[in-house]
Amino acid sequence: MIKQPKLILSILFLIVVRLALADGGMWIPMLIEKYNIETMQKKGCKLSADDIYSINHSSLKDAIVQFGGGCTGELISNDGLLITNHHCGYGSIQKHSSVEHDYLTDGFWAMSKKEELPNDGLTVSFLILMQDVTTKTLENVTDEQSEPERQSLIRKNIEKIRKEVEDSSRYKADVETFYSGNQYFLFIYEIFNDVRLVGAPPSSIGKFGGDTDNWMWPRHTGDFSMFRIYADKDNKPASYSTDNVPYHPKKSLSININGINENDFTMVFGYPGHTQEYLHSDAVKYIVEQRNPVRIKLRDTKLAIMRDHMLESDKVRIQLSSKYAHVANGWKKWIGESKGLERIDAIQIKKNFEAQYANWINQESERSTKYGSVLDHYRHLYEDNSSSMLAREFIYESIFAVDVIGLASKFNSLLPKKEGEKIDDISAFYQSTQSFYKDYDIETDKEVMAALFEIYYQTMPEEYRPEFFKKIETKYHSDFNKFTSDVFKKSIFRSEEECKKFLDKFSVKKLNEDPIFQLYQSTIDFYVLKINPILSLSNNEMETLDRLYMKSQIEMAGDSVLFPDANFTLRVAFGKVEGYEPADGVEYKYKTTLSGIMEKELLGMYDYVVDNKLKELYKAKDYGRYGKDDEMPVCFIASNHTTGGNSGSPVLNANGELIGVNFDRNWEGTMSDIMYDPDRCRNIVLDIRYALFIIDKFAGAGYLLDEMNIIN
Ligand code: ARG
Ligand code: GLU
Repeated sequence: MIKQPKLILSILFLIVVRLALADGGMWIPMLIEKYNIETMQKKGCKLSADDIYSINHSSLKDAIVQFGGGCTGELISNDGLLITNHHCGYGSIQKHSSVEHDYLTDGFWAMSKKEELPNDGLTVSFLILMQDVTTKTLENVTDEQSEPERQSLIRKNIEKIRKEVEDSSRYKADVETFYSGNQYFLFIYEIFNDVRLVGAPPSSIGKFGGDTDNWMWPRHTGDFSMFRIYADKDNKPASYSTDNVPYHPKKSLSININGINENDFTMVFGYPGHTQEYLHSDAVKYIVEQRNPVRIKLRDTKLAIMRDHMLESDKVRIQLSSKYAHVANGWKKWIGESKGLERIDAIQIKKNFEAQYANWINQESERSTKYGSVLDHYRHLYEDNSSSMLAREFIYESIFAVDVIGLASKFNSLLPKKEGEKIDDISAFYQSTQSFYKDYDIETDKEVMAALFEIYYQTMPEEYRPEFFKKIETKYHSDFNKFTSDVFKKSIFRSEEECKKFLDKFSVKKLNEDPIFQLYQSTIDFYVLKINPILSLSNNEMETLDRLYMKSQIEMAGDSVLFPDANFTLRVAFGKVEGYEPADGVEYKYKTTLSGIMEKELLGMYDYVVDNKLKELYKAKDYGRYGKDDEMPVCFIASNHTTGGNSGSPVLNANGELIGVNFDRNWEGTMSDIMYDPDRCRNIVLDIRYALFIIDKFAGAGYLLDEMNIIN
């Protein structure tokens, strides 16, 4: 019950101001000089902006790669050795694993360069340079154009810019938007595709704590793996070949093992993926009250089914482990995010901000003309479209969450687009079918289909369901198990064998009649006819609004610079080593040690199994130069604003030396993708000393340390 509205309002106002002035932010490397370096230096940073990002000489940016599309990695030797997270290398480690060579469980260490394992399809990208190309991108764009006209012109302009670079060099070019269409930058990358696995600890170290500890502090995960980049004899990218040689980067990071203290300056340099810090209150409301609950419930169900099957068989456990980790990761993050946003009352904070914003608009008539309708327009869009938005969630999180429907969707490209058209090359489908079934468990998938379809059916009204649900209702009397088992029984997708037989004697008619393929088609028809028309209209309006809202928020902020939302481009976040209070009366310290691993083992849980060798080292306190005062550091936390994609990012000290590898955030802080709370948001870091200790003392791969530059 609110008894003192005035007091509460003024407290909320203070929170708004505090959040607005918060340290959060993921900054543009090229603009550090202009906007951030002074603040960074005041906080203890000893580097110049030029040390961090330069296009004239080598700088820290040259030691950092985007790893495999979704993670970050950093070079730690002049021979192309890089470190990233265990969970970033997981897919590669898993691909090399079988029941006989279970590298996931046992770890993998190449004892010489010859033993390093190639990874088809794995690439790393180095940023060569970035450039503001706003003027070129917006050439001939006017405010009078409709949003689709505007976007199509922008796409053409971007294509021109990209082509110019790619035609005249061997680099890849991307143009990305910043501040929702208000600014554009060109990124030029050099991409290497011979990247070999060098080492990974056993999962009991690299994934210690598993999904139990994921997104949580205190943490004890040795979440790292190592790869080596290979190049041709001229140090240029080349496809895998035994003739390739280790790549010599322009820069590799020195590693500092002197230790970490509370309040030390830290900086994270990597590729954060996606944040939404400038949303309208109704968008936050939709996320907290509708989107997240639906996603969480569907994944709850899917995970429980997967878990049951994985516990029953080792084969299924290995097959599904990577998928499981992936599904669980998002699920747990959204739970934390919702809790965090509710705790801080994010919707109210946004509403308060909107009240100030409306005031600011009303101060000048020019502002009212330009921005006066923004807030109302947002409100209407969310009122009118949230059911369609939710239907889209259901399609992704229930229908396409059934693995076999994902496979069926690929076969769609085998259908001729026009009468008599020749069909795509079928041979590629043998390959993708084979790799699909390697990690596929049909019994799990069947159960998942029945359960998730039923939730869709129970939750969404008829107009928001694909046609096939009617058949389940009438023909199967809503018996989802019966429906599923029928569908699988009759489908070519029920086994690798059947699928291959079908490919041998490919027939368009047979594909069109396949019940699983029909589920896919019915879903797409529904989406294209019923959902997409509504959402693409509202997306157009949303794009215009987002651009206006962002522009006006920047104007309103005046001299204080707002950071642009993450967009998978290279960014710098800075903060310091610090603990936090997760709840009233509870305090978390900033670091953990090996003793904590032994304490967790006592709990007797499957996620807390400790390798005997590690126990021996612990008992003997055999920590070499990596431990301190009889303690072996494992992880620490800091207040750097990070997000998905920052996994594997280097955590650097004031001198730009590597002190840790970023791998997670705390649960109380996953809300930072939408609202950064400096009191509770922390990034979780593997202490580099623990990684070196594992490589050297645990794995006996100390020769790898010879090529690193270690400072102590
Ligand atoms: N939460 C981290 C991230 O978003 C780590 C995920 C991998 N670990 C796991 N136990 N699933 O990538
Ligand atoms: N584990 C995350 C990743 O894969 C990093 C943690 C986060 O989202 O902050 O990038």
